[in-house]
Amino acid sequence: MPRVCSKIFSNEQVSGDFYLMKAECPNDARMGQFYMIRAWETYPVLSRPVSVFDTDGKTVSFLYKVVGKGTEIFAGLKAGGEITLEGPLGNTFPDLSGKIAMVGGGVGIAPFYLTARELKARHPESRIDLYLGFSDQALLVDDYRKAADNVIVDVGGFITDSIDPALYEHIFTCGPEIMMRVLYEKCRRAGAGDRLYVSMENRMACGVGACFVCSCKTSKGNKKVCKDGPVFPGKEVFGL
Ligand SMILES: Cc1cc2nc3c(=O)[nH]c(=O)nc-3n(C[C@H](O)[C@H](O)[C@H](O)COP(=O)(O)OP(=O)(O)OC[C@H]3O[C@@H](n4cnc5c(N)ncnc54)[C@H](O)[C@@H]3O)c2cc1C
Ligand code: FES
Repeated sequence: MPRVCSKIFSNEQVSGDFYLMKAECPNDARMGQFYMIRAWETYPVLSRPVSVFDTDGKTVSFLYKVVGKGTEIFAGLKAGGEITLEGPLGNTFPDLSGKIAMVGGGVGIAPFYLTARELKARHPESRIDLYLGFSDQALLVDDYRKAADNVIVDVGGFITDSIDPALYEHIFTCGPEIMMRVLYEKCRRAGAGDRLYVSMENRMACGVGACFVCSCKTSKGNKKVCKDGPVFPGKEVFGL
């Protein structure tokens, strides 16, 4: 996968540590995929994996949270500047229809904007409920309302308390590992453990399957999150 130097159209603070960046990049990215992004030559060495928030085929956008050196550099980039993108990488959420819940925690909401839009476009008859959990401030809720049938927001509590897994044919989740584990347990107790798909955010180095840094233990052996994932059946990861 070649690294492409891309022009930044916009890079705006959404709220607090959260930013939305849009870059020029012809692409065929699908729901749940990610790019390895860098905006430096040598330091901090590795590119950073960030999910595709949205795409129109000509541009790609990313919702990211500043947590360290790499994302701090991203936050300082200006429209007209450049970033280097490698991707789209990884697998996608499964192309399913019916009654679907998507549960995102914090910046784990990022992949569900495109995922909800893509599934709604493919299966207009499906019903998509988005559950968005935030620790202190809700983000982009009006945008997410345009992508899904219903949006449920929790601020400061546990978004996993808001969902009844028995109501859904399929459930997708992304966010802190503890949140996804709690959701898996809740699904399992409701007899819905097989209906859950999780998007893992393990730390990465190469992003293309060459180094094992992102290795994840599953019921089918160790898997590479960058190449075999990031999306896995929840039971494979949390049902061990
Ligand atoms: C497939 C995938 C998709 C992702 N999508 C997004 C996204 O859409 N938006 C977004 O903001 N972030 C996303 N991330 C996480 C993002 O890659 C990290 O936050 C980023 O690499 C941190 O880089 P940094 O240099 O700013 O922080 P570092 O200096 O590298 O780390 C700062 C702190 O963040 C922690 N950290 C770093 N990486 C991760 C990680 N992967 N998971 C949990 N904690 C981490 C470190 O332990 C440390 O405490 C994704 C990760 C993966 C693997
Ligand atoms: S990050 Fe190197 S194998 Fe996944």
